[in-house]
Formats: sequence, C-alpha cells, structure tokens
Amino acid sequence: MNIERRKFLASIGGAGAVAALSHEDRAEALEHYMTRQLGRTVPAAQPGRGGQAGQDERSPRGTGRLFTPQPEPWGPMPERPTLIDFFNHRFGATARHVLQSATHAVETGQPERTVFACLIHDVTQGLMRVDHGYWGAQLFAPYVDERVSWAVKYHQPLRFFPDESVGYEYPEMYNRIYGVDYEPDEYIKADHEFARNHRYYMEARLVTVNDQYAFDENAREIEIEEFTDVIGRQFRQPREGLGFDNSPVAHMWRSMMFPDNPL
Ligand SMILES: [Fe+2]
Ligand SMILES: [Fe+2]
Repeated sequence: MNIERRKFLASIGGAGAVAALSHEDRAEALEHYMTRQLGRTVPAAQPGRGGQAGQDERSPRGTGRLFTPQPEPWGPMPERPTLIDFFNHRFGATARHVLQSATHAVETGQPERTVFACLIHDVTQGLMRVDHGYWGAQLFAPYVDERVSWAVKYHQPLRFFPDESVGYEYPEMYNRIYGVDYEPDEYIKADHEFARNHRYYMEARLVTVNDQYAFDENAREIEIEEFTDVIGRQFRQPREGLGFDNSPVAHMWRSMMFPDNPL
C-alpha cells in the first residue's frame, strides 16, 4: 500500500501532535490508518464494510470506531449473533485487511490455526484501537484454542521486531513515515522478550508474517463466508449468540452490538 506521508501525518494532527506521541502510539496510528485506507476501497454498498469510513477520517485516534459518534446508527444484528454476523455488520474497515491476511496464510499452506488467528487478529480495532492485540486476545479467549488468543495478543508486540528465520524484516514503513526508528515502550519490549522465548512464539510470529501481505488495495474482494468451515472448526460459537452466553467477555460483544445504548 502506498501511504502518502503528508496526508497521513495531517490525519493524526500534524508534526506537533506526532512529536507528543509515544512510539507505540505512532505504530498504532500507522497500522489503523492503513487498515482504514484499505477498508475505504470497499464498495459502500456493503453495509458495515467501510461504508462509514468517512467518519474514521475525522477520528483517526483514540478508542475504536464503534465508540465514536456515527453519522447513521448501526444496523440491527440477528437475535443470536455469530462471529460471521459480526464480520458482516460490525467489524467494518478492519474486515478487508484480516480477510486478506488469512487468505495469504491459506495460499502459503499454513496451519488452519494460523489462518484463523490471521482472520481475527485486528478486528478489535473497532472496539479499541489502543493495544488492540491485547483486547483481541481477551475478546476471543473463551471461544478459541489458547494458542490462537496467544497469537492475537503477541502479534502486537512482535510486529516491529525482525525475525530473519522466517524472513520477517523490520517494517521500513515506520521509519519512512516518522523519520526515526521505532523505539518500543517498556511493556512492549518486555512482552516481545517473553514471547520470543515462549513455546508458542511462532503462533504469533506467523500472524505478523501474513500481516505484511494484507494491505493490498487491488486484491480481489474476499467474503467472510469463504472461511465458514475454518470458523466452524476453530471458533466455539455459543448457542445463545455472542453477547448472550454469560461468558466473562459477553459484555464486550454486547458493546460492539449496541454502541449507542445509553449509559
Ligand atoms: Fe495488528
Ligand atoms: Fe494486521
């Protein structure tokens, strides 16, 4: 993806605002910008798939897009929503990016668990942009293999650390945009160190490898339904519907479902 440096920097408040951001905030801002740009290229006719991206332009930072005022209320969800329903009605601009990421994992013959981790790795950006990997791991933990939620969590601290063994290089983009190398926050350094020495390390590393290929504006449109079987095997869909199964994270799914409910 071709990022126009000036346009991007202006979208997060210009040089003055950038100077005040931590390296981690800058990394988040850049990732979300690319995800949104990609989502914008989706035809607006597909509800929830980038049609409201214009709103994101005005609120490029802070909490997820579901919690920022939308020009139109979000559409209703089915009574017992499935993960696929959330893809189609709530995940919005992030969906295209993760679908590309998962497709790349399929095409390069990676394990189904990795394919699924790629499919969900960034969808929490709608809920909460800051530390989206950590939020995502928590959101999915009750429904997936622990290696999947682990991968979602640690793709975030790993993404700016190279690993030659799998051909993962330090993303040039960060330096090109900000003019300095990424200097991770202490907790990111600590979590990278922890993950690097963990037996699940590759689970998260492979997500970052597929991430690199998943910002292609010219790629064909991929439907979530292509992953129905993968989801069926990798995700324990609660019978009552997400948000209504009394799990420790049911409230998070409900918040995504009803972001406009009064406090
Ligand atoms: Fe991410
Ligand atoms: Fe990503």
